[in-house]
Amino acid sequence: MNLPELSDSNVKGKKVLLRLDLDVGVDTSRIESAKETLEFLVENSAKTIIIGHKGRPDGVEEPLSLRPLAKVIGALVGKEVGFAENATIEEGEMVLLENLRFDSREENNDENFAKELASLGQFFVNEAFAVSHRPHASIVGVPKYLPHAAGFRFTQEVENLNKILVNPKRPLVVIISGIKEDKVEMAKSLTQIADMVLVGGKLPKYFGDTNPSPKKLIIGDLSFDGFDITLNSAERFKVEIAKAGTIVLAGVLGKYEDEGHRQGTKEVFEAVAACNAYKIAGGGDTEAALSLFGLTDKFDWISVGGGAMLDFIVKGTLPGIAALLE
Ligand code: 3PG
Repeated sequence: MNLPELSDSNVKGKKVLLRLDLDVGVDTSRIESAKETLEFLVENSAKTIIIGHKGRPDGVEEPLSLRPLAKVIGALVGKEVGFAENATIEEGEMVLLENLRFDSREENNDENFAKELASLGQFFVNEAFAVSHRPHASIVGVPKYLPHAAGFRFTQEVENLNKILVNPKRPLVVIISGIKEDKVEMAKSLTQIADMVLVGGKLPKYFGDTNPSPKKLIIGDLSFDGFDITLNSAERFKVEIAKAGTIVLAGVLGKYEDEGHRQGTKEVFEAVAACNAYKIAGGGDTEAALSLFGLTDKFDWISVGGGAMLDFIVKGTLPGIAALLE
């Protein structure tokens, strides 16, 4: 996959529209992962206009404003980052715009909205891998109207996740969970590429008593209150983990935030961390749980994306990647 690279692009003195992953809570590591790209733009005297989204607002919702993140980005690059649409930007300076999803045209992939955004810059950089599975205006619309490149982290994500697609060491084991029913279809799709898919979180509830792929799918049993997998299921998962050549960890197995409901997640995550497989993990909760258990550095790659990582593994591409390749 030959993504257009930022290091090959001439951004000197240009207005660069930079799409970042700003859908963060207390943990701002997603923003930190864009440091190399932000520094490159400052060092190359670009006039950077940062765009992004947070949450799923219905119109303008003040708690989902991106305003507080101007300070976070500023601290990362060691300079003040303005927050306004009409601010004049000098070379090497940055300005952050408001949550794109305050305007419904973003998620509707409205052509005029994409054009309006594109008109703010002369070059576009996608450094928002975690939302590049969404065909939204700032992801797939804007690059139609501006010369563009992938951010450094974006390129690394694609390179590292590609290792799962191209000749992975088998067995390939995927651990998936979630609270939304749409992950059920994802778990089923994953059985097409993985040797074993282990399912926890709330997903077992949605499967009910049917297992569509008994040889490739183990649906964890939930404890009586439904907030963790049983220890018996954790043991079954561990048997598969011990055999794995490659592991994708995409979800926590229970309500790990509660001390009383984290045993399944802890046992399974520790088993993954201890095995010799090539290991990648992704998704906000997964990252937070790994950090809680002190296991982050045991992984070969931690993706910024949860849904985006899984979509990429299942489809081999994403709408945001296709848009950059055009
Ligand atoms: C994420 O946090 O996974 C991305 O920001 C995508 O958010 P969405 O699922 O609300 O589109």
